[in-house]
Amino acid sequence: MTPNDIATAGQQDAGKTAQGQLDDFLRMVQARCADLERPLRGLEMFARDGSWFTGHIARMVDEMECWEINAKYIPDLERNIPTAKVRQVDSIAHEPEPGDTFGLICLDNPQGIYGDYCEHFEALPRALRILAKTGVLVFYVNLNPYRAKPSAPNDDYGMVEHDAWFERRAAFYGRDAESLTPEFAEQFYGQMFQRLGLTMKSFDGVLFRSTVPGHPDYMFRVVAAVERGPSAA
Ligand SMILES: C[S@@+](CC[C@H](N)C(=O)[O-])C[C@H]1O[C@@H](n2cnc3c(N)ncnc32)[C@H](O)[C@@H]1O
Repeated sequence: MTPNDIATAGQQDAGKTAQGQLDDFLRMVQARCADLERPLRGLEMFARDGSWFTGHIARMVDEMECWEINAKYIPDLERNIPTAKVRQVDSIAHEPEPGDTFGLICLDNPQGIYGDYCEHFEALPRALRILAKTGVLVFYVNLNPYRAKPSAPNDDYGMVEHDAWFERRAAFYGRDAESLTPEFAEQFYGQMFQRLGLTMKSFDGVLFRSTVPGHPDYMFRVVAAVERGPSAA
């Protein structure tokens, strides 16, 4: 996907409902998974009860694992995705068996800081270690984070320690990261994968419309196909 295509994908989404945008995104994931080896093993590292996103992914794969740290979501997760193998773990600290790999890995992580972690910054390198030789990663790039008010006394979704969050973003992206573009993201993750000995074969995304009045769209949901080893080109 060229930077122009990405920008256009965002603009085309402008008139769509949230469900329409999700449908587009799921089609994008499915298209990329079509090239992967079967049987296809899928993993969601942040499953909650699976009702927002993970349940749709489970229908695309042959075997599904769902990891979730919070015990309160596990019974509903097991009910919502009965075919999945569910583990209650800290997905970033969890060490799978050697050789246990997944063709499709999704990171539907909280935004902001949660515990010791921030966005997908620690989770993505962990995911890369257990991705199959050729695999697809789904992750979200927060292009324009907003300074939310906590929605509850215990905000599950970490969007409260704003200054620390914005510092972690600047350290991860190596620049002021209050506002990023899809073009920057494509270049940044391509280079990151290359540094880790991987080749990014494709990078697609849908820019989801912001539900925050007056705030620019912020969530760029990415589907990246990745292969182990340097590019043959
Ligand atoms: C945005 S929700 C996921 C939504 C879910 N994928 C769905 O389709 O409904 C993020 C989830 O990540 C979980 N979480 C936070 N830290 C985690 C960690 N270190 N390991 C595993 N799960 C974690 C939270 O408890 C929360 O349920």
